[in-house]
Amino acid sequence: MTDEASDRSRKPATAARMYDYYLGGVHNFAADREAAEKIIAMQPTFPAIARANRAFLGRAVRFLAESGVRQFLDLGSGMPTVGNVHEIAQDVTPDARVVYVDIDPVAVSESTDILAGNRHVVAVNADMRNPKSILDHPQVRDLIDFSRPTAVLLAAVLHFVPDDDQAYGLVDELRSALAPGSYLLISHASTEGFLASSENVEAIKSVYSQQTATPGGTRSQAGVERFFAGTELVEPGVTWSTTWRPADGDPSDFADDPRLSCIWAAVGKVV
Ligand SMILES: C[S@@+](CC[C@H](N)C(=O)[O-])C[C@H]1O[C@@H](n2cnc3c(N)ncnc32)[C@H](O)[C@@H]1O
Repeated sequence: MTDEASDRSRKPATAARMYDYYLGGVHNFAADREAAEKIIAMQPTFPAIARANRAFLGRAVRFLAESGVRQFLDLGSGMPTVGNVHEIAQDVTPDARVVYVDIDPVAVSESTDILAGNRHVVAVNADMRNPKSILDHPQVRDLIDFSRPTAVLLAAVLHFVPDDDQAYGLVDELRSALAPGSYLLISHASTEGFLASSENVEAIKSVYSQQTATPGGTRSQAGVERFFAGTELVEPGVTWSTTWRPADGDPSDFADDPRLSCIWAAVGKVV
């Protein structure tokens, strides 16, 4: 058994399927529900935090598609759920190309199932900590022409790369592969959000480190802004997930105190 496979059998929950459970999805197993329920017991707003992040992703993908982007590389894409990236992008541009990438093989096979017949979309099982394996992947190369503007989406995933050298290094490598006019989208668990200062934060982190193979952490607003080196931040810059270009129909959670959304969000244009 490889180290990764042995880690998976000892830590049977995954971030992808726990997130699916927070969002009310059906692509999760007993181990995921048990771990997610532990988190919700400590922090009942977790499902609302996930919904607000997902709503940001939807608004930002629409913004990118309306800005003329036709290629999307969605890293840490998770389980297929309401408002999938390809549905939003192809609503604006029917032949938009989308590559979903996730470390969780179940997320990839579930995504592959719902994509049958959509020849402009594919799901790939890979680890974004090795960007070259994604940039050189034949299925990625088949759909995405990196000499043309591409949006790289890193929604709620970089906090699963707590090592700074690895996280900033991988984003730098991805951005260097992009043509001018491309975009970087990031949402990220916040150090300044009330959650990171809550007495439960260490217990919440330990559920992820003990029950999944992807331990998590938080970064500050300045730390998230640092990922956007080499880009021009789109207005309003790095802000709370709920305050990034809010739109009609957004979930109403955290309207009185956006800090409670606990997630920094931003989009930058590669220059
Ligand atoms: C919280 S979910 C976010 C899903 C989606 N991006 C969203 O924002 O709605 C995080 C996802 O990142 C994936 N993930 C974590 N570490 C990863 C890695 N090193 N490479 C690829 N995917 C990863 C998890 O499997 C999970 O599906």
